[in-house]
Amino acid sequence: MGLKTGTVTEKFAMKEFVLTNDNGIRMRISEYGGIVREIHVPDRQGVSEDIVLGFDSIEAYEHNPAYFGALIGRFGNRIAKGKFELDGVTSELATNDGSNHLHGGLKGFDRVLWDGESISGEDFQGIVLRYRSEDGDEGYPGALDISVTYRLTNGNQWIIDYLASSDRPTILNPTQHSYFNLSGKADSSILDHQIQINASHYTPVDANLIPTGKIAPLDGTPLDFRTPESIGARIDAQHTQLERGNGYDHNFVIKRDATEELASAAEVFEPNSGRLLEVITTSPGVQFYTGNFLDGSLEGKSGVAYGPRSGFCLETQLFPDSPNQVNFPSARLNPGEKFKSTTIYRFSAR
Ligand code: BGC
Repeated sequence: MGLKTGTVTEKFAMKEFVLTNDNGIRMRISEYGGIVREIHVPDRQGVSEDIVLGFDSIEAYEHNPAYFGALIGRFGNRIAKGKFELDGVTSELATNDGSNHLHGGLKGFDRVLWDGESISGEDFQGIVLRYRSEDGDEGYPGALDISVTYRLTNGNQWIIDYLASSDRPTILNPTQHSYFNLSGKADSSILDHQIQINASHYTPVDANLIPTGKIAPLDGTPLDFRTPESIGARIDAQHTQLERGNGYDHNFVIKRDATEELASAAEVFEPNSGRLLEVITTSPGVQFYTGNFLDGSLEGKSGVAYGPRSGFCLETQLFPDSPNQVNFPSARLNPGEKFKSTTIYRFSAR
């Protein structure tokens, strides 16, 4: 099977790409927002189903407040009050989450047209998506050139490589916002999926979901997933953090050895289909989000009204609000430097 491209609609004059591999996995990607619209993955019987949330028509993505499938940036997650300081100069970003900045602002990477190019190799089909974000875009300093490469390999890996540079000191924290429901049935919840997260610490948040600045141990909390547990087992437990997030909506600090570049962030298993998703990354953090803000008002694929917890996200990232937190990993990108990060979503069934 080959790579197919074509123009989607008159209004959305853009290309879409279909990537396939030797084991029956198929992904559909749009240049608009770099959105991954479909990922079909075989279950343990070999039956393929689409395991990501989204819309039937590309036009519907113009109103995508949940960021289904999209590329996120320049800064994934929240920046308090939309403000940060670099070399004594304060930048004011667009605020789109109460008084905070979320996922790149009013017109982030999820709402722009990327320039896509097909690539392929012996073991993969892929696309490179390129975008130039001008100086001052959504309030960010510096013109930023970014490319995001998606590869689907015959080893059942979806590999994402981010590469960027800026002409002035700036900040950057791109991520990918796919919502998975490994059952392939988004009218059912993800509460019976079993998750394991490779983290002993997390960054607790205040009532506005801004980190308090602490890097806190997970021991004894309902957020500790070092041992695999169903997502639903403790999601309604009485715990301030779960109340603030209305479920899981937290950044976990990925455990890695000093020599380990790519580390396992999480694994999610869906018992009925047998599908397993592994997330491996060079990023220091991963946001585990259980679709708590989905309220049935978005009509998704096949007319399904996506309800709370109908999908989960594992967004690899720097820590939220890191430009304002001295003890968090730095998001700074200097001219002459290259920003690089890699995340792998690996699919299988057992
Ligand atoms: C955030 C949520 C936010 C959601 C928007 C997630 O990445 O963690 O707090 O509501 O994106 O869809």
